[in-house]
Amino acid sequence: IKRITTHILQEMKGRGEKISMLTAYDFSMARIVDGAGMDIILVGDSASNVMAGHETTLPITLDQMIYHAASVVRGVKRALVVVDLPFGSYQGNSSEALRSTIRIMKESGAHAIKLEGGMEIKESVIRVLSAGVPVMGHLGLTPQSIYKFGTYAVRAREEAEANKLIADAKMLEECGCFAIVLEKIPAILAKRVAEEVKIPMIGIGAGPHVDGQVLVLHDLVGITKDFNPKFLRRYADVHTIMTEAVSQYIADVKNKEFPTEQEGY
Ligand code: KIV
Ligand code: NA
Repeated sequence: IKRITTHILQEMKGRGEKISMLTAYDFSMARIVDGAGMDIILVGDSASNVMAGHETTLPITLDQMIYHAASVVRGVKRALVVVDLPFGSYQGNSSEALRSTIRIMKESGAHAIKLEGGMEIKESVIRVLSAGVPVMGHLGLTPQSIYKFGTYAVRAREEAEANKLIADAKMLEECGCFAIVLEKIPAILAKRVAEEVKIPMIGIGAGPHVDGQVLVLHDLVGITKDFNPKFLRRYADVHTIMTEAVSQYIADVKNKEFPTEQEGY
């Protein structure tokens, strides 16, 4: 199997082929997602929410991200594996950004890192890129800044914030980032950025006129139930499938219908 590289992603944008991206946090799920043919697998700090049960992405640690990333890498043959730098591991200190990145690359075997923000983190982006590690940007509703925003509402509806987002995207491109996630911004703005910036724009709640899409695995397959934004399409109801399977198992144990003599030694 030919591995996906940042160069292949750039070619895909060039020929108008949409890029598929999805999160995974463990070996078994990564095997399924990679086996299905995903282009990019993101070891997102959304693991803080869906794996650890935290309300926000802020509590997850670098060590925990490395554990998830190493597990994912062992299950992937083809996809490009991108790992989120967690909150507190890169902001305002480019040396720490590089140190965190080097730990992720060495200890997990991942292929690239992602960090949130624009001008504020420019030095960190440059420093990581100068070490030869591909960087993915993330603009719009950046969840590590949720307490600054105070709401999960759509970002960059106002002209000032939209202009800053465009300038940040161009800055990240000039620095040498290979792609940018655009989260929960107006579709018309995402379209404009995807046209004006040559590196791939991967959207989540950013409409159809971008170069690719990303979702959280647990949302896509319907393991999570209580998260229902307009941008989320559920492709399965795994919550119901698993609940039925587990309930049947409980009933079979209670009713002495599992195991049978044939299922023993
Ligand atoms: O952590 C995450 O899952 C993400 C995606 C939603 C882009 O950053
Ligand atoms: Na993230």
